Amino acid sequence: MFSNIIRKTAKPAARTFIRKASNATTKQPANSKRLLYSLGGFGLGAAATYSTMEQNNTTPRMAGQSIYGMLESFGDRLDRIEEALGVGLSVFSDEIQKIRAVKASNPGNRAMKYFDEGYFAKLGLPLQQVFMDIVRTGFENADSGLGCYAMKPDDYETFADFFDPLIRDYHGASPDAVHVTDWDISDVGENGVLDVTKLGLPTLSMRVRVGRNLTGFNLPGNMDRAERVRFEKAMLKAFKKLQAMPEYGGQVYSLTPDFDGAKNPNKISDAKYNELVKAHVMFKDMDADPYLKSAGIASDWPYGRGCWQSDDKQCIIWFGEEDQLRIMCMKKGTKLNEVFTRLKGMLDTVESIEGVKFARSDKYGYVTSCPSNLGTGMRASVHIKIPNLTSDGTDKKAKAIAGPLGLSVRGVGGEHTPIGADGTVDISPRARLFIKEKEIIGALYKGIQNLMAEEKK
Ligand code: ADP
Ligand code: ARG
Repeated sequence: MFSNIIRKTAKPAARTFIRKASNATTKQPANSKRLLYSLGGFGLGAAATYSTMEQNNTTPRMAGQSIYGMLESFGDRLDRIEEALGVGLSVFSDEIQKIRAVKASNPGNRAMKYFDEGYFAKLGLPLQQVFMDIVRTGFENADSGLGCYAMKPDDYETFADFFDPLIRDYHGASPDAVHVTDWDISDVGENGVLDVTKLGLPTLSMRVRVGRNLTGFNLPGNMDRAERVRFEKAMLKAFKKLQAMPEYGGQVYSLTPDFDGAKNPNKISDAKYNELVKAHVMFKDMDADPYLKSAGIASDWPYGRGCWQSDDKQCIIWFGEEDQLRIMCMKKGTKLNEVFTRLKGMLDTVESIEGVKFARSDKYGYVTSCPSNLGTGMRASVHIKIPNLTSDGTDKKAKAIAGPLGLSVRGVGGEHTPIGADGTVDISPRARLFIKEKEIIGALYKGIQNLMAEEKK
């Protein structure tokens, strides 16, 4: 009798909770989303507990189990029942409809392409919820090329059946490729020197960045405001170490309005922020990026966002963007190897600081939010003038020529921005995974040479 009441009331109520939570957009604070999941999960657990207890009159297998253990095993059983009945999918029916539609309309959207309903149904409710958060950006932004971001460093293992083929498709890799890290450029260029004046070019703006995430923290898509601020505070300790070193010094610029009501000593004005964005030091307003917004990566903006910059302005560490950290070296110069080697030195220093442990995967090297950045996490770029290839005022022709050369073309303000009025673009090798760091910087040099040959044709 009691179990009937539970079955009739708690279970549907729990499902309503979960459905509401799963429908929640990133406008909803992550905390309340999680609370809804917990309540829903608890309701389902309770419903399962009571109904199973009544039927079995408490089986011997349960004797000695903690309430938590009992709930867990009931949860597992419920998952199996749901899987058999196919009701797991119905909780997410709105999302599944959208996924089916985008799969049909946008075959280039890899997350939709590799979303398998049979695989999803077998995951069980808690993992299904995480998985939906991973692919949400894909079905909310049909034109995505990847359409997914990992939420936790170990998601690439947890959801390997989905991620592995998607990653190998995007990176054009064989099923057995394993990532190798190698920064030794002694045999690249002329004994490790990559001088663009040898290609007839003047001083260029050069930048090499890597995406890094720390073990022990969620990836940005799964952080709530408190964790974002906790991460910033953890990084402040690391920045203090850099500030004390003569090679670096520098200062922290933070956008965080307050530290839980307390004053943030590094807070900068809007005017300073805009000046830093213009100087390519700080990142743009993430809330304006629909891909990051759908993934929850832009949530709580601008809490936990900012950067550290060295005294000589060349070394920069972003915190709170698409990856927890983007670590970079940037300057105007002619030798690409200089920014590369300085970045490597900075990374070694940062990783030697207590509490800093970069998340890595055996198969994919350094772990990043977006599967496009896995491996090296490296984007090595120059700003270069190609007025002939951009004579129509767009990057269309430049992209068509640069693509087959293995190069990406971006605007002068970075990804999703327009090219410069004088035909200046940002070019970088597209490859990041199953390629060595030293090969990326070599590929940038070669790419510049090839692109300039096309520009002069
Ligand atoms: P990411 O490089 O981290 O993937 P973006 O493409 O958005 O992200 O670029 C971030 C910022 O870095 C932008 O302001 C962009 O103009 C700047 N940037 C990138 N490459 C260079 C470069 N070679 N010289 C100067 N600024 C650069
Ligand atoms: N999420 C977008 C897509 O799938 C962008 C991916 C690459 N860019 C990035 N910043 N990770 O098309």
